[in-house]
Amino acid sequence: MVELKLSSKSEELFERAKKVLPGGVNSPVRAFEPYPFFVNRAKGSKLYGADGDTYIDYCMAYGALLLGHAYSEVVNAVGGQLWKGTLYGTPTELEVEFAELIQTSSPCMEMLRLVNSGTEATMHAIRVARGFTGRKKIIKFEGCYHGAHDNVLVKAGSGATTFGTPTSPGIPEEITQNTIVIPYNNFQALDETIKCKGHDIAAVIIEPVIGNAGLILPMNGYLSYLRKLTEEYGIILIFDETITGFRLAIGGAQEYYNIKADMATLGKVLGGGFPIAAFGGRKEIMENVSPSGKVYQAGTFSGNPVSVTAGYATLQVLRRRKDEIYPALEENSERLKKALVDLASDSHVEAQVYNVASMFQIFFSSQPVIDYASAKLSDTKKFQAYFQELLKQGVFIPPSQFETCFLTTAHAEKDLEYTINAFDKALHAASTISRSA
Ligand SMILES: Cc1ncc(COP(=O)(O)O)c(C=O)c1O
Repeated sequence: MVELKLSSKSEELFERAKKVLPGGVNSPVRAFEPYPFFVNRAKGSKLYGADGDTYIDYCMAYGALLLGHAYSEVVNAVGGQLWKGTLYGTPTELEVEFAELIQTSSPCMEMLRLVNSGTEATMHAIRVARGFTGRKKIIKFEGCYHGAHDNVLVKAGSGATTFGTPTSPGIPEEITQNTIVIPYNNFQALDETIKCKGHDIAAVIIEPVIGNAGLILPMNGYLSYLRKLTEEYGIILIFDETITGFRLAIGGAQEYYNIKADMATLGKVLGGGFPIAAFGGRKEIMENVSPSGKVYQAGTFSGNPVSVTAGYATLQVLRRRKDEIYPALEENSERLKKALVDLASDSHVEAQVYNVASMFQIFFSSQPVIDYASAKLSDTKKFQAYFQELLKQGVFIPPSQFETCFLTTAHAEKDLEYTINAFDKALHAASTISRSA
């Protein structure tokens, strides 16, 4: 079914790219060994490469596409909008309707603002939480990614609860000193940190399901305990639903786990493949945003009519077909998870496999993965062998152990069957690799 050729055109393009783009890419995770395949076009569940190669895609632009590539209703709507203008710098009726659609979908979004990326959304949500509470510090969790801005690009220090040290050069310590990093799923660290510093903390920001350290699920009762503690201390609970929004359910992780945050951020699926994101929350918090309040936030492209059109078309489809879409996606991820568990066992590969809704991931580890530290115990050499063999078979997953695979409504029965066969070969390839040191 899938035809794969040597990617010589991709290799050539990558050589050119490296001369003009750092590392040859416009976002780091896109670079992988020996070189990434370049894409000419995409449709449904497939990516079509520059060398005539075809892939069943489980990266789906890192979770941005829930309806698959080039979904006709979205493409048609965008096509119609393009001729009406691409950017106005003044408000439109559609952005109000879009915001109303988000408001009625996402549990805590009494008011919201549209921005262009998940990074912008979390950056502004944190600023608004600080402005509202008058407090400086925030808590984030080890292994959670909230975009590439200074406040959140922080990993934990050596202790369970430490002041952060910057993950990247170029981020002043003065900024990250206000970011406290604690391990995910650790009730005690959460308890101690909030009981000790709670009155200085403006916000807790969390990926309710971690999709950026592989896939890590919240333990039973963890999110509700976090909700209870933050409420007690007047801390703004921000659910970063950049991945989970409209993916776990129409109302994201808040609906899936029945927890209402104070604020949430949305991105990825929200734009149906176009750049748009949102942050929002309780009205009394969001009214502080400029021009109704004093917390400044702005953006030339915010509410861009092309992105709004794509997002609006996407949400219409999801709302109309939600009772059919979400159960079917979860059924498919269960099926792939079960296949991975059985095939790993057949190949004598130690593995942990997790899934939720349309997300799934395998960790090459003998230990259950409950946080960043346990995720890091995974054998990344085995993962690379698994990834490379899948690629050879024409199945594209995100090229890192610390990412997540995504299903869409476009993945058909024959895609899944083909993928399960490819999993078999890929797990066999992983089994031949001796454990990395
Ligand atoms: C949970 C989460 N928050 C924020 C971001 C940043 O979003 P963007 O890449 O659109 O800036 C991402 C991106 O992967 C994400 O997964």
